[in-house]
Amino acid sequence: MSKTPELIVNDLRVAVEGKEILKGLSLQVAKGEIHALMGPNGSGKSTLANTLMGHPRYEVTGGEILFKGLSILEMEADERSRAGLFMAFQYPVAIPGLSVANFLRSALNARLVRPETNGSGTMPQKKGIAPREFRALLKGQMALLKMDESFATRYLNDGFSGGEKKRAEILQMALLKPEIAIMDETDSGLDIDALRVVSDGVNALAGPDLGVLVITHYQRILNYIKPHRVHVMVDGRISVSGGPELALELETRGYDWVRNGKEVTAP
Ligand SMILES: Nc1ncnc2c1ncn2[C@@H]1O[C@H](COP(=O)(O)OP(=O)(O)OP(=O)(O)O)[C@@H](O)[C@H]1O
Ligand SMILES: [Mg+2]
Repeated sequence: MSKTPELIVNDLRVAVEGKEILKGLSLQVAKGEIHALMGPNGSGKSTLANTLMGHPRYEVTGGEILFKGLSILEMEADERSRAGLFMAFQYPVAIPGLSVANFLRSALNARLVRPETNGSGTMPQKKGIAPREFRALLKGQMALLKMDESFATRYLNDGFSGGEKKRAEILQMALLKPEIAIMDETDSGLDIDALRVVSDGVNALAGPDLGVLVITHYQRILNYIKPHRVHVMVDGRISVSGGPELALELETRGYDWVRNGKEVTAP
């Protein structure tokens, strides 16, 4: 592949409350690719995801994060989102009184009215989407994801099961059309149905215009989502990368052989 990956993480060092968690992590994700990031508890996977999205508690002490060729280190979380980075929330907030549809329309409008900063100044802001147009778009996306239309009228995350929260997230991703999506699934206690929701959703949305980084503990999910690359993170950096077969190897051998660093031979 000759094109430059949209997301480039180079020798990234991140500290949380003065403690270094990421210790020189490098990773590249291009549109059209699905990457899986695995690794033992506490290795820093969520720290990477939160840092990519600009969580203020994570202090970048070294290295760089480039998105579409530009450093995003100085960008706030909402700017990153408008630029085309998407993060699936691990702990979505319930908002009684706000329907899924209205939430999604606000989210979409926030993305649409972005000023384009492409180096040549700021283009005029686009207007938000009209209600009727939005309803048609939503209907189409829900059909694509095989979701029941009544879902859109429910209050956001209010009494949602784990799987339904995942559905709301995937729907949000479908509408926002990010260029790179980061999905941190580790702590959300996904059951097999929710795993399916995530993987079916990712498969439905995957294509040349979307790059995905799926953070997961479950080799199982990789039976449904076929990653192009699998990376294993140990102690704040990628210790081994490989093709889909690496996930299977982890399933049978666990993490110890990676941790010991004896067989870090995969390309
Ligand atoms: N906000 C924080 N405050 C203090 N320590 C933190 C914070 N975020 C992460 N850490 C520490 O950083 C280390 C890495 O945590 P992180 O959540 O990134 O790991 P992880 O790979 O996502 O683990 P898991 O597989 O359990 O989700 C841990 O030692 C954790 O305690
Ligand atoms: Mg985590």
